Amino acid sequence: MPSPMKTLHTRAELSANLDPCRSRGERIALVPTMGALHEGHLALVRLAKQRADHVVVSIFVNPTQFAPHEDFDRYPRTLESDTELLAKEGVDMIYAPSITEMYPDGVVQDVVPQGPPADGLESDARPHFFGGVATVVTRLFKHARPHIAVFGEKDWQQLQVIKTFVAPPLGVEIVPGPTVREPDGLALSSRNRYLSPEHRAAAPALHRVLSESAVLISRGAPIPAVMANARAEIEKAGFTVDYAEARHAETLAPVSDAHHGPLRLLVAARIGGTRLIDNAAVPSS
Ligand code: PAJ
Repeated sequence: MPSPMKTLHTRAELSANLDPCRSRGERIALVPTMGALHEGHLALVRLAKQRADHVVVSIFVNPTQFAPHEDFDRYPRTLESDTELLAKEGVDMIYAPSITEMYPDGVVQDVVPQGPPADGLESDARPHFFGGVATVVTRLFKHARPHIAVFGEKDWQQLQVIKTFVAPPLGVEIVPGPTVREPDGLALSSRNRYLSPEHRAAAPALHRVLSESAVLISRGAPIPAVMANARAEIEKAGFTVDYAEARHAETLAPVSDAHHGPLRLLVAARIGGTRLIDNAAVPSS
């Protein structure tokens, strides 16, 4: 019989529960989240279960990755329903620390990635963002000391930043999980709940346009023309585009043609006050 899921709030409790597992040589997986869980998060949990003996899901709405004008205060907090979902998945532990547990010396960023792949794209629109993510993920890794940690491809640049700057010094293996989508292609996101019915109906344009553009580029169409058209199509659907770019998939360096791959198309766009991001692989030709 697996033991019932525990919800822990302090680093000390987490260590007390995980140290015995670690000394028995059992593998620990961490799935970091900000809660408001959906099928995308649960798919990461299932992947973690396949790869490790114990799964810890952290739920922490991290203040250092939100700018003052962003949605930290209105970010959905649904610990009760999140707990029910995770219990059904057979998760061992939820780690739901307080802000003071995570930031005992004040709410500051102390791991600030600089250089590729942290430069540009999300950093242009949200300069504080990767400093906040790298700071909190470093702390979560230090608290849980996992063997592996699972992150979604939905946040492609975040995944590359964590792989490049956060995981290596702490020896954590990063396992990527594919993006889970609605039947119409919209990537699941905790922020989709902010969309009005009209904007929800427009939102699948992001995935449709990225998928079509990826196919065109893989067939040899010129990248600048394809991406200019992609931007125009997304705007036609009602979005304001922050970026719509073809980049090297790992370094996120700009690319001039498909031979400089692997390539990834990345987009961030706003509709009715909600900012959505998505990305697509360019199939190798
Ligand atoms: P959050 O937005 O809650 O996402 C938690 C994890 O779920 C991330 O790895 C994200 O990429 C993944 N995810 C989100 N939507 C997904 C989808 N549709 N399919 C697959 N995976 C999906 O990302 C964060 O939280 C935070 O920045 C965090 C890493 C927890 C640091 O605070």
